[in-house]
Amino acid sequence: MKFLPIYLFSFLLSFAACAQNNDAITAGMDRVRLEFKLDASGRPVYAVYYDGKPVIKPSVLGIKLVDAPGLDEHFTVTGTDKKTMDEQWTPVWGEVSHIRNHYEQLTVHLKQQSKEALALDITFRVFADGVGFRYEFPKQPNLSYFIVADELTQFNLTGDHKTFWIPGDYDTNEYPYTISPISQIDAWTLAKASPDIAVKTAPDQYAVQTPLMMKTSEGVYINIHEAALVNYSSMQLHVDRSSFGLTASLVPDAYGNKAYLHAPCRTPWRTIIVSDKAADILSSKMILNLNEPSKIKNTAWIKPMKFVGVWWEMQTGKSTWSYATSADNVGPDGKLIASGKHGANTANVKRYIDFAAKNGIGGVLVEGWNVGWEDWFGNWKENVFDFVTPYPDFDVKAITQYAKQKGIKMIMHNETSGSATNYERQMDTAFRFMKKYGYTSVKTGYVGKIIPRGEHHDGAWMVNHYVRVAQKAASYQVMLDAHEPVRPTGLQRTYPNWMACEAGRGNEYNAFSNGNAPSHETIMPFTRLMGGPMDYTPGIFKIKGYSDVPGRQVHTTLTKQLALYVTMYSPLQMAADIPENYEKHMDAFQFIKDVPVDWDDTKILEAEPGEYLSIARKQKRSADWYLGAITNQDSRSTTIALSFLDKGKKYTATIYADAPNADWKNNPEAYTIKTITVTADTKLDLKLAPGGGTAISIKPRDK
Ligand code: NOJ
Ligand code: CA
Repeated sequence: MKFLPIYLFSFLLSFAACAQNNDAITAGMDRVRLEFKLDASGRPVYAVYYDGKPVIKPSVLGIKLVDAPGLDEHFTVTGTDKKTMDEQWTPVWGEVSHIRNHYEQLTVHLKQQSKEALALDITFRVFADGVGFRYEFPKQPNLSYFIVADELTQFNLTGDHKTFWIPGDYDTNEYPYTISPISQIDAWTLAKASPDIAVKTAPDQYAVQTPLMMKTSEGVYINIHEAALVNYSSMQLHVDRSSFGLTASLVPDAYGNKAYLHAPCRTPWRTIIVSDKAADILSSKMILNLNEPSKIKNTAWIKPMKFVGVWWEMQTGKSTWSYATSADNVGPDGKLIASGKHGANTANVKRYIDFAAKNGIGGVLVEGWNVGWEDWFGNWKENVFDFVTPYPDFDVKAITQYAKQKGIKMIMHNETSGSATNYERQMDTAFRFMKKYGYTSVKTGYVGKIIPRGEHHDGAWMVNHYVRVAQKAASYQVMLDAHEPVRPTGLQRTYPNWMACEAGRGNEYNAFSNGNAPSHETIMPFTRLMGGPMDYTPGIFKIKGYSDVPGRQVHTTLTKQLALYVTMYSPLQMAADIPENYEKHMDAFQFIKDVPVDWDDTKILEAEPGEYLSIARKQKRSADWYLGAITNQDSRSTTIALSFLDKGKKYTATIYADAPNADWKNNPEAYTIKTITVTADTKLDLKLAPGGGTAISIKPRDK
């Protein structure tokens, strides 16, 4: 990642112990203002205003320690520093080619009036689209090694906002979203209604996950999350349903502790993004800006791509990950007896390689290639997989040669079944194996209860594990896509080989459960995707009839699946259906062939969480644009002005739209494709079916 400072104006304003405890200290940027002061007990308090109106009412800050005095009260302000930053940087890949990082920073230095005289700094960064802040623990005689018992950070809201939430679960983010006022949040009702989620740990009935998306009755959109989560547990929010106050709730480790720190050090950033336009929430780059620049120097090997995979056929029960029906199903020679349903066999994998090569898809993922799948799940077993031993019908050498010859990059699958200790022990061996056989990316997975036992998917131990995997992958020049990790917090800036995460309810829930409501994909960008790209696995073409379970289907139309390639950003993007389903609709598949995974520019054209979303993106180093428009269960008519196109230029637009009689439930696979000439003056009337979407490619006529 290159750093291009274009303008840096910084001034330091330090003064010793001159601020009165009750004086408000402020920082601001455009319509956003931050106020800080100490209350009568010397507790740090902050508030956030948008256009002069409160968004976060005065809210307490502080940290409780284990077996040590709390960093929560009896403070005095010993000084403040202020600076302004305005710079531009270039991400290795992303939704835009350049990112402006413009903020006013205020650091408040605090000292406790006590025997220990503990010092704490709180740094705020105020951007035009919100506020980030974090705790910093300076080096000091009476605070060296310490354990965080709790974080007291509050976000006191101004009313009973409309909220898009999932439970604050320590082990999963794979819930469907509920839209309700804050006063009706009840995590347990949703947890009970989700039997399809493998491991659930939601001890607090009134806790929700972040990114938390809200809308006030005055039409102000607020998003609360965190940035740069390392060496600390992830932040969920405890909800006070009557006062509308949220309090940080950190995921505990096996001992109930939240983080083990050594001063000087700091916490992740807490982020509050605010705007009166929903579109601005989606275009905010605040979370990325709060992360450190790339720690990977040479990034030339990091290449976004699309992929297909031996995957959906297992999800839908057509084939299996395992080779035998059970671990006990062995012959007299002690070897597993083949069930005949194993998906990852050489011939089948070659079929996917052929399909990818024929259609310009860069990669092929294969799951179920390594031994262990007979009893991989549900036994809390430490040593399930070794990540290097293929099943007898998976000829790794032959497959590598075949893929190479066809110009296809293979994607490794390392399911850990939650046993991070086993993976840590074998990571080097696993990555060496990938290198040997030419695998350039890995998809990891953490289905199951975590080992070390007592830890959680979203706790500090695992947070550090995921980072170690990203670092290890980088050292072998391997790109990473993590399934079931903690939800992302913008660390893809620091580790740009960490291309995608699942960490949310993917399209796969349409395969093995009652699925995702038609509104789901209109909420995800405002929640899960705020922290980073999602491996949502779009592109299912056979919307019905892939499962024996009555009523089971994908809850979108076919063309909405196409539009998701634009609305659900990921630099590693799957074409998730099986080749034979694509082969029936090669005219529609053309959009998946064309759509890029790396962009120079992004315009959020219209957006309303839970309702609709239209995004246009310009392909990296190209004049081509792609547009995706989606709706929830309601049909939608909208007019899109193509004013983002170059003036005076003629373009060919290919429009993949729901057929007039399409709808997600009864007629989901009906679509039309038409080609028209458009210019920057064109206004396109789009008609989206219930649960539908439109996808458009727009290419200059004369290149
Ligand atoms: C859950 C993942 O989300 C899915 O993509 C994968 O196929 C299975 N685990 C098996 O690893
Ligand atoms: Ca999953």
